[in-house]
This record gives sequence, C-alpha cells and structure tokens, in this order.
Amino acid sequence: EGRRPLVAGNWKMNGLRSSVPIVEAIRDGLSPALTDNIDVLICPPATLISSCVAAVYGSPVAIGGQNLHARPSGAFTGSISAEMFADLGATYVIVGHSERRAYHYETDDGVHAKALGARRAGLRGIICVGETMEERQQGRALDIVRAQLAIGLPKGATGEDTVIAYEPVWAIGSGRTPTATEIAEVHASLREMLDKLVGEEAHKIRILYGGSVKPANARELMAVENVDGALVGGASLVAEDFLGICRAYE
Ligand code: G3H
Repeated sequence: EGRRPLVAGNWKMNGLRSSVPIVEAIRDGLSPALTDNIDVLICPPATLISSCVAAVYGSPVAIGGQNLHARPSGAFTGSISAEMFADLGATYVIVGHSERRAYHYETDDGVHAKALGARRAGLRGIICVGETMEERQQGRALDIVRAQLAIGLPKGATGEDTVIAYEPVWAIGSGRTPTATEIAEVHASLREMLDKLVGEEAHKIRILYGGSVKPANARELMAVENVDGALVGGASLVAEDFLGICRAYE
C-alpha cells in the first residue's frame, strides 16, 4: 500500500547513561539499503532523550518519548509535555501504552487528549491499543481495540502525525504472540475503523504490531497483511536483537 514500515523500540523504565552505546550500535548497524526503506525509532526513558538525540545526530534513527502530559506546561509536578520532548529533538511519542493504562489509570479520553498534545507540538503520536486475554477469550478483542481507536484517535489524524500500535496485553513481555491469522484479523479491523474515522487517509496511517517481537519471529509477523512495522520492548534493549528485527525488511 506504499506505507513506509516503522520499527520502533520502547525501552520502558530501563537504561542509564551507560546504555547510550546501545543506540550508537543500532545507528552503526543499520545499512543505508535498509534505512532507505524503513523508519527506525528508539524511545528511551525521558532522562536519556538528550544523549540519545546527540548519539543519532545526522543518522536516520529517530528518538521519541514514552508518555507525555496533554497540556503544554503548568503546575503538573513530575510531568513532561510534548513541547518539552520536541525541544530536546524527539520526533515521536508513545501514547496509551497498556502499561500506562494498567498502572496509571489512563483512559481512552486521556489518550485522546495526549494524542492532541503530541500533534500540537509537532510530535508523531504512536497510539497503542490492545485487548487482555480475558477480553480475547470472551470474543471481545475486536470490539475493545476498535473502541480504543475510535475514542483515542484525534479528528483529522493523518499518516504524517499518527501511528497506531496493536499490542495484545497478553503478548507483551510474555514470549507469546497471536497467530498470523489473529493479527491479520485485528489489523484489518483497525484499518476498517480508521477508514470510518478519517476516510482515505486511513491507507496512509501505519499500524504496528507489538508484543514479544524477536529476530526469530519478526519476518513472519512483519509479513502479515496490514502490519506496517513493530513496536519492540525487551528486544530493543539489545542492539543485535533490535537490528535483527529491522533486518526482517531486508
Ligand atoms: O512497547 C512495547 C511492547 O510493550 C512490547 O514489549 O517486546 O517486551 O513484548 P515486548
């Protein structure tokens, strides 16, 4: 469909200054032939954004945040705004990751506000959706992710400012992945919902798959219809593993 794949790493709450060489190794391990065809992004903890931005300067690797506050500034102790991330040179931010929803009580409306905040500051928002195992077993997976998307997605979202990530909660950090058929079903359903929400632009918005993506399964997962890249957790903390996933596109 002409969508440029995106391979994104989410370091979560991992990494000290001594971890910046991982980003350097990723930068150095990507061949031009590969980065001609795919976008590559690392989302380190906020404390490392500056040093990672410096490390990838002049290279095709992008740096992003993992969460943001919806407002541009104000009395919100401990929070970081989209403007602050943009000021450091970040170009993406993850919004509504399932860990934020589960441990920080983020709602779909909150996700919507944060996605608007990202757009206001010129950051690309990666809006995460995904069902729990219980919801899947009840046959509600499609309803859940479609509702998360319908509420979370800002009006007028485009392929330029928005990425969607489908991350089944039960596949995150578990070593378990849905079958190719299950992933295809969800991604097709999300694409159809995007079409309802933004019309033609739906075909320009990338939908990533996330949850236990490894070098060994990346090729198969990335080949599924409507999968436009990966959101990688654990494997993004090991340069060779993350590079192995990127090379699924070689
Ligand atoms: O944001 C990344 C996901 O939560 C996936 O994590 O690759 O460790 O399963 P994982």
